[in-house]
Amino acid sequence: MNIKASSQVLGVIGDPIAHSFSPDMHNAAIDALGVDFCYVAFHVSPDRVGEAVNGLRGLEILGLNVTIPHKLAVMEHVDRISEEALAVGAVNTIHNEDGNLTGHNTDVYGVVKAIERVVGVTTFPENCVVLGAGGAARAVTYALGSRDEVKQVTVMNRTVERAESLAADMEKITGKRIVPEALDAPTEARVFGDARLVVNTTSVGMHPKTDASPLLDPAHVRPDLILYDTVFNPLETQMMREFKAQGAPAFGGLDMLVFQGARSFEIWTGIEPPTDVMKQAVVGRFA
Ligand SMILES: NC(=O)c1ccc[n+]([C@@H]2O[C@H](COP(=O)([O-])OP(=O)(O)OC[C@H]3O[C@@H](n4cnc5c(N)ncnc54)[C@H](OP(=O)(O)O)[C@@H]3O)[C@@H](O)[C@H]2O)c1
Repeated sequence: MNIKASSQVLGVIGDPIAHSFSPDMHNAAIDALGVDFCYVAFHVSPDRVGEAVNGLRGLEILGLNVTIPHKLAVMEHVDRISEEALAVGAVNTIHNEDGNLTGHNTDVYGVVKAIERVVGVTTFPENCVVLGAGGAARAVTYALGSRDEVKQVTVMNRTVERAESLAADMEKITGKRIVPEALDAPTEARVFGDARLVVNTTSVGMHPKTDASPLLDPAHVRPDLILYDTVFNPLETQMMREFKAQGAPAFGGLDMLVFQGARSFEIWTGIEPPTDVMKQAVVGRFA
């Protein structure tokens, strides 16, 4: 990579940030395209979020990705928030246009594209399930609830009050039936019985606790129930293995990561990046 005085800077802020895959992914796209950008990771502590976002204006940094734990905090420091980011209640991308900062949420696009392209489902099932009620669950529930063909999304969470609050918000925004439920075995048996797509947005199974799974009983998995696990580290989660063992299709979160990154890149640069190159750059980190 040839960083020059003219190179426009892109980056990601988070805490911690040193293990982020985003610099690998975006710099691989920049190299492949031969364009004059570079992408770096900035460690930003929670008490410095405002200064970091204002720094975009001062340093004329073109764009940032925002990761845990700053996706909410940055919202009060930008000038405008896109409709999607407002609906989700989180910003993962900031675009600086001559000092005017817009907050976007590209996780919504990322999960839809991953399910369409990689899972191969273009008409989403009427009845979908989301496991978890954190930030990723809000993006996924909004994405699913915004599809015309989806009639109901059930949100199952360990802390049921969070599922209730998410469901109330998303029901208002999407106009669909969003049903909050507890994450326990009897509920899993009932809810999985009616669904065709489950999206895991809990952090269960994520590195380093890779033996863990949010699935309570593999007997609840039918071969026609699709799993999309948003966890991307490891590439194959314990939950994916459990679904596959029941003959059910299961896909990991890497493609969502790549597509949300690709959408951010396009917002900043107006260029559609090569997603296969971006994906290979992340896979290379696991080699
Ligand atoms: N592929 C992608 O591009 C992408 C994008 C965004 C996020 N993600 C993934 O999504 C996951 C969640 O991220 P997030 O930002 O939504 O995090 P978050 O806001 O902290 O939410 C974490 C969720 O996991 C649940 N959870 C945590 N430990 C649990 C346990 N032991 N048993 C049952 N549930 C548990 C939490 O339940 P409680 O409410 O009960 O605590 C909550 O619903 C992460 O693995 C992240 O890598 C992937």
